[in-house]
Amino acid sequence: MTAPLERKTLVARDRACVWHPYTQMLTRPDPLPIVRGSGVYLFTEDGRRLLDGTSSWWVNIHGHSHPKLNEALAAQARELEHVVFANCTHRPAVELAERLLAVLPPGLTRVFYSDNGSTAVEVALKLARQYWTNRGEPKRATFITLHHAYHGDTVGAMSTSGDSIFTRAFAPMLFDVARAHAPYCYRCPLGLERATCQVECLGATPVPAPATLGALLERLGGSVAAVLVEPMLQGAGGMIVWPLEFLAGVRRLCDQFGTLMIADEVLTGFGRTGRMFACEHASVVPDIICLSKALTGGYLPLGATVATDAVYDTFLSEDRTKTFFHGHSYTGNPLACAVGIASLDLFHETGALARVAALEHSLRAGLEPLRDLPIVGDVRVLGGVGIVELVADKEAKTASGYLDHIGPRLTEAFLARGLLLRPLGNVLYVMPPYVITEAETAWVLEQVSDVLREESLSAGR
Ligand SMILES: Cc1ncc(COP(=O)(O)O)c(C=O)c1O
Repeated sequence: MTAPLERKTLVARDRACVWHPYTQMLTRPDPLPIVRGSGVYLFTEDGRRLLDGTSSWWVNIHGHSHPKLNEALAAQARELEHVVFANCTHRPAVELAERLLAVLPPGLTRVFYSDNGSTAVEVALKLARQYWTNRGEPKRATFITLHHAYHGDTVGAMSTSGDSIFTRAFAPMLFDVARAHAPYCYRCPLGLERATCQVECLGATPVPAPATLGALLERLGGSVAAVLVEPMLQGAGGMIVWPLEFLAGVRRLCDQFGTLMIADEVLTGFGRTGRMFACEHASVVPDIICLSKALTGGYLPLGATVATDAVYDTFLSEDRTKTFFHGHSYTGNPLACAVGIASLDLFHETGALARVAALEHSLRAGLEPLRDLPIVGDVRVLGGVGIVELVADKEAKTASGYLDHIGPRLTEAFLARGLLLRPLGNVLYVMPPYVITEAETAWVLEQVSDVLREESLSAGR
């Protein structure tokens, strides 16, 4: 006889009916049964406490189950949970838009809501495409994106992402894009050294190297709809930190060739890189910016794609075919918007940017010494993100990428110590909620150091 549902563990019940993302369901370890969250900690059904070292897929900034966000959500639920957004509006959507425009780089003026990071990118791509058709330049249809990019899992977002295990099975469904070099300094695409290079990988020089952004723009000229980038930090494609000269150069080249610049700040927005938005590192204003993840402090799915007047104005017409025909059932969801407003309040009240600055300092101090380990190829730190790229051979910089077995092995080792991390294969990173204390950060760094030292020893090096 089977046991009644309530007597079975959550894991047993999950195994019978749930399909998890990015998970080989045949060989996976049991999922962690999380029953509660508080601050930087998650609590499991079987009584463990885990520090959330990756902010629950990079979304959480104020900690789990924050009283102020809980109250904002409950209060909004008592008033209005949802309403169609095509011909209705409501206070949370308007107020969040106003609040976003007040903190975004100046010149971004129109907020279009969607559901998540991928849809924020889809909206940006469609806006850019239709911007040119509305202007009577339908041939501008090509997107330029970067190698190692990750923009999400929907079809447009996958098409514009770098070729990877995330996209390969779907290749026949995807549209063509032109791909330019990313400034991956540890593995420089041009074989140069950052200490002496002039960011030649951008291709802004008079005779740009092939496959640089400059060379592609020169070759494709008037057929480019937009250049789409993750400014300063390419996330899921390997946690690649940019020289800010590259970011400044992307804007310059877009201006030079008269095309749009889309900044995908789904990961980097809301302080993660040490500035409110990563574009600020180089005082860049994109034509379109994509936001999600920390937009609601890690509470609810919400995307926002924000455009300049110059983009928006091309959609204003007596001709109804120039309308932006895009929307989602939950566009502008009031619950998500209300939590987004409360999250922005908290951001200022808690001095979030100062916290990220302190976190950056601790991450640098704790991770830099690991460079000496034989399995460590590179250490990168930007804002609240600390990255250690692991290699099999330090000289040859060899590594097997996302499917490297070191990833699951490290995950297990950290879990045994009460730390929840999810390396991207051979790229280990920590990205905790900003509320993490100095003592908690020190503890995280101690675990990282201990586990990597053990791994070095067991690798016999
Ligand atoms: C830069 C970037 N863009 C887009 C996305 C897609 O966001 P979502 O997972 O909410 O669809 C991600 C997700 O990690 C991301 O890092």
